[in-house]
Amino acid sequence: MQEKRDIENREDIAQLIRAFYTHAMQDELIGTFFTEVAAINLEEHLPIMYDFWENLLFHTGSYYGGMMQKHIRLHQKKLLESQHFARWLELFEREVDRQFAGPVAEEAKTRARTIAPSMQEKLKRFYLPMTR
Ligand code: HEM
Repeated sequence: MQEKRDIENREDIAQLIRAFYTHAMQDELIGTFFTEVAAINLEEHLPIMYDFWENLLFHTGSYYGGMMQKHIRLHQKKLLESQHFARWLELFEREVDRQFAGPVAEEAKTRARTIAPSMQEKLKRFYLPMTR
């Protein structure tokens, strides 16, 4: 078997994120957040995700924020709960491991594992039910 290499550039990130989204969008537990609750336009959404991860892993300054706001909005439409975060992380880590190995791949998983619970904590604080 060919040895896996590490995440090296934006193209690698794109490959990782595209595969992750293929699985996440079909997932029975979290799929509908993407396909129905936010009904994302993949062509617009994916490059934002590449920017986000490129900035995290390679400090490119390519992501300008607003991530929390998007998830607060989602959470107001359909509760984002622990089980959803657990599945998100499971799918993300599985995809990283399937495609890559090395310090940057480890960093990606560590960052995801750190961000997910902090996002969850913030959602509890910011939660305001929609009036309609
Ligand atoms: C239960 C777990 C999660 C679900 C179901 C979820 C779902 C989504 C959806 C549907 C969007 C698109 C929202 C929109 O454009 O209106 C989104 C955006 C995003 N998500 Fe998540 N997400 C989850 C956790 C995470 C985690 C843990 C991270 C980071 C490690 C993350 C990073 C992002 C980023 C960077 C965006 C783009 C925000 C922007 O447009 O600027 N998400 N997420």
